[in-house]
Amino acid sequence: MAAPLMQLFFFAFAILLNSKAMVCTNIEVDALVVFKQGLSDPNNILASWDPNIVDPCTWIAVTCNQNNQVTRLDLVDKNLDGNLVPDLGKLEYLQYLELYENKIRGTIPVEFGNLKNLIAMDLHGNNLTGSIPSLLGNIKSLKILLLNDNRLSGQIPREVLNLPNIQILNATNNNVAGTTIVTRNGPADNIHPTSMATPSLGLLKFLFLLPVVSIFVSI
Ligand SMILES: *[C@@H]1O[C@H](CO)[C@@H](O)[C@H](O)[C@H]1NC(C)=O
Ligand SMILES: *[C@@H]1O[C@H](CO)[C@@H](O)[C@H](O)[C@H]1NC(C)=O
Repeated sequence: MAAPLMQLFFFAFAILLNSKAMVCTNIEVDALVVFKQGLSDPNNILASWDPNIVDPCTWIAVTCNQNNQVTRLDLVDKNLDGNLVPDLGKLEYLQYLELYENKIRGTIPVEFGNLKNLIAMDLHGNNLTGSIPSLLGNIKSLKILLLNDNRLSGQIPREVLNLPNIQILNATNNNVAGTTIVTRNGPADNIHPTSMATPSLGLLKFLFLLPVVSIFVSI
């Protein structure tokens, strides 16, 4: 009685293993392809984004670390029209999300709060609507959050205003009420750093300027 049952279990286990192997694709490739599929890209900037490639590190606009994990996405002023997708929240090693000056519409996915290593999120100069997700307050590493020149509404959530490392948060030129801009420690870091330079000097400046905290409130 037991032997056929065991065989059945092994059979089921083998199928499970096999199906797992078959869906073993790159999470980051999948996430970026979902983003691409929702975009209109009139200049065909994303032509190199081939879903059949093993990892996305050779794709234009994508930068990886030594472990082939995506650390930057730079698509600036590329005439991209479409929506942000929750899938981008799966890029867990992402440090720079630079999508400014396009025609990106819709809301900022709450899943962006999962981007635990993000240093800069620059979405300014798009056509984003809805409110700023309070879950962005989970990104403790975030220094730069530029949402200015969109059509966002509501208020900047308290969790976001309280981000421990924020240096500049700009949500002016939206329909955002209350505080729309926060700057701390002056321009300690370049707003659009183009390389992963070691931040030793910036960190030093940051430590010395720590008491010099200024918050500008505009209504
Ligand atoms: C933003 O969206 C509105 C409504 O769809 C549209 O009329 C406007 O041209 C868009 N602006 C930009 C900069 O894409
Ligand atoms: C914030 O955004 C507004 C609107 O684009 C811009 O005029 C202003 O210079 C920005 N402020 C800072 C401190 O970057």
